[in-house]
Amino acid sequence: MSKVFTVFGATGKQGGSVIDAVLRNPELSKTYRLRGVTRDPTKGNALKLKEKGVEVVAGDQNDLASLRTAVRGSSAVFAVTNFFESMSGETEFAQGKAMADAAAAEGVEYFIASTLPNAAVVTNGALAHIDHFNSKAKIEEYARTLPFKSAFFWPAMFAQEINGHDLIPKKQDDGTYALYCIWAPDSKVPLIDIVADTGKCVAQLLKDPERWNGKRIYGAGGFYTPTEMADILSKETGKTVKYVQLPDKVFTGFFPEPLQEEFYEMFMLMRDWKYFGPEGKGAEAELADSHAAMDEKPTTFAEFVRKNKWFD
Ligand SMILES: NC(=O)c1ccc[n+]([C@@H]2O[C@H](COP(=O)([O-])OP(=O)(O)OC[C@H]3O[C@@H](n4cnc5c(N)ncnc54)[C@H](OP(=O)(O)O)[C@@H]3O)[C@@H](O)[C@H]2O)c1
Repeated sequence: MSKVFTVFGATGKQGGSVIDAVLRNPELSKTYRLRGVTRDPTKGNALKLKEKGVEVVAGDQNDLASLRTAVRGSSAVFAVTNFFESMSGETEFAQGKAMADAAAAEGVEYFIASTLPNAAVVTNGALAHIDHFNSKAKIEEYARTLPFKSAFFWPAMFAQEINGHDLIPKKQDDGTYALYCIWAPDSKVPLIDIVADTGKCVAQLLKDPERWNGKRIYGAGGFYTPTEMADILSKETGKTVKYVQLPDKVFTGFFPEPLQEEFYEMFMLMRDWKYFGPEGKGAEAELADSHAAMDEKPTTFAEFVRKNKWFD
């Protein structure tokens, strides 16, 4: 009989990508029956999951009892938190801890979580206010203490953020476009097509719990300087796109007041610390190792640009 793999955030980008990757994988789709967790099993994305043959169950990351019910009978769990609903590192940690506690209490064998480095630690205290990184790092640290195998997916900056956020290439008076940020022109920034590639990474972790126990897979199509991003955008769209480094204060002024310090430091983490920091062999070598381990290759930024509409 097949085992149950329970996916949190199944109605969202990361969890949805995990579901799709397992469904299209001949080996994993035989080994695992999929269960997706949502707060509202009647909503559109939940119904779409049911159409794909996924069992959809209710669960709220703020309610431990509901999480125990949601994961009951599962062999493996994928956990993801959404900091931007609560905007609170404490809440995010509590949610991640609750999923891990529920999994441990229900005898889950393998716990996979989407986490990030502790920015305060990897920058030696230089960037101490990136709560949505630090709380995810604390979830990872906590999960490692529990009696199951665990593995972690570290997603890069979503490539989707380049298309529809404050960096979105803006039209200039001369008809060209400007890509704005505080990055240096040669800062190396990792980007992931989070919808296409989360599942590719997590499927790899799911295939071999022994190999990945205690380890991380880095999720990114590659590292790109903002100049390279602009060049790729120009080449793939036929428009002229230039990178413009804005003064720190001007750029952070784009963000709502409560997020300005957090976002300023996050872009500094990308500018000066390659986003992932110098953990392990260093960010680029770790990503190269992750790529080498993957059966399905990640999406490059050029492929991402080709797949999406720009400049509307
Ligand atoms: N933007 C970036 O560049 C970037 C980079 C790295 C990491 N991240 C992190 O990515 C995370 C967001 O991931 P995503 O983009 O996959 O999210 P998303 O597409 O917005 O989906 C969020 C998912 O979380 C579920 N969820 C939220 N609160 C829940 C709760 N209390 N109980 C149960 N389920 C809950 C939602 O389910 P229902 O609504 O159906 O209940 C939904 O499926 C954030 O924490 C962010 O920090 C972002």
